[in-house]
Amino acid sequence: MNSGDVLKFPPGFLWGTATSPTQVEGHIENEWTHFTAQDGGHCRIACDHYHRYPEDIEWMARLGTNAYRFGIEWGRLQSAPFAPLNQKELARYMDLIDRLQAKGITPMVVLHHFSNPPWINTAGGWTNAATIPAFVDYVTKLIAVLKDRVYLWNTFNEPDTYACVAYLLGGFPPQRKWKLGQFRRVIDHMARAHVQASRVIRREGDAGRQPEVGIAKNWTFFHAYQRFSPWDRTTAFACHYTFNKFVLDAFLGGGRRRDSTFIGLNYYGRVRFHHFRAMIPASGTPVKTLKDFGFVCDDMVERYPAGLVKILSYLHRKFRLPVYITEHGAASDDEPFRERDLRENLAALHGAMAGGVEVRGFFYWSLLDNFEWQFGYTKKFGLLAVDFADEKLPRSPKPLAAVFAGICRTNAVDRLGSGIG
Ligand code: FCB
Repeated sequence: MNSGDVLKFPPGFLWGTATSPTQVEGHIENEWTHFTAQDGGHCRIACDHYHRYPEDIEWMARLGTNAYRFGIEWGRLQSAPFAPLNQKELARYMDLIDRLQAKGITPMVVLHHFSNPPWINTAGGWTNAATIPAFVDYVTKLIAVLKDRVYLWNTFNEPDTYACVAYLLGGFPPQRKWKLGQFRRVIDHMARAHVQASRVIRREGDAGRQPEVGIAKNWTFFHAYQRFSPWDRTTAFACHYTFNKFVLDAFLGGGRRRDSTFIGLNYYGRVRFHHFRAMIPASGTPVKTLKDFGFVCDDMVERYPAGLVKILSYLHRKFRLPVYITEHGAASDDEPFRERDLRENLAALHGAMAGGVEVRGFFYWSLLDNFEWQFGYTKKFGLLAVDFADEKLPRSPKPLAAVFAGICRTNAVDRLGSGIG
């Protein structure tokens, strides 16, 4: 059905961009407000999406996207556990959603993306089981007001990354190291909160179609660089077990599969271990050095488009749920590289779909260059550049924006990069 190398996606496929409140909004009060990133940066203004969202929505429309995945910041809406929702902040998010809809852009709302209200953090965050009913209360109040506007709900973004980097690696607040018990507790509590929140959303949702609910799971492949190195194989297996298997089982294992209607997949690539070292730029090995090892990396991890087919087939076999690619993107100043990466991953995605996996949408990370957590502003994931040196924070499209716009408009990708897309 596909002529030559033009890969067509099914009608109604969602093509979107993704952001998160802490990374783009600015003027935020959470555990990141007083956090200084490795580059000295902080999130206090970020991209000022908090004020500039109308302009950003114009950009989304110009890109030809028909979906936007963004977070609602819990701490803006509740000032204490079980408090009524802040009407002014709610009105702003409603206006954002109305503007999206006026442009034909479907909202996917993320309820938790690496940040909590200050009063949750002082009470122990997600290590404390009391966070579960507080979160469910928040979701219940939020769905009551958004139920007829939003049908796509993403409860937790990458609980695996959050629990790992905050409680094992010390990179995210509260910067704990090797607290395996706390890591497991966070995952367990979030999984329970997901189940309860999902039941509320599915019971109450009323946006003209069945509400859809799922988490976004980061899937990273962990491999040994040398296949026969027992130590590196053990390290890779321990990572796979802890971050992939344990987390998937907690959220979707046993009867819990019934409490998700989709799986959100954040897919970037792979980490290979060599003498116990994670061979990725995010752990400090320069892209150039990795190139000498034969690794293709962006400024974060190794690229591994073939892995996308593997993970999608695996999830399909195991859970039989539709999938959204809730994030994929590359951080680099090398735009031809980013274009290649996008086309290769979309070709892999298309291949998995041709093989029977139901994928309903793809969200590019990210609309804007933004605050990349502990790395600050050094990782350039945006389709649009933001000039952070200029206080007006002007946006300007990068070459990849035109490529992505072509893909969105034609609902197709050309593997070779000529003609459409
Ligand atoms: C994902 C996060 C997102 C961003 C991208 C690069 O793990 O969900 O906030 O940091 O990686």
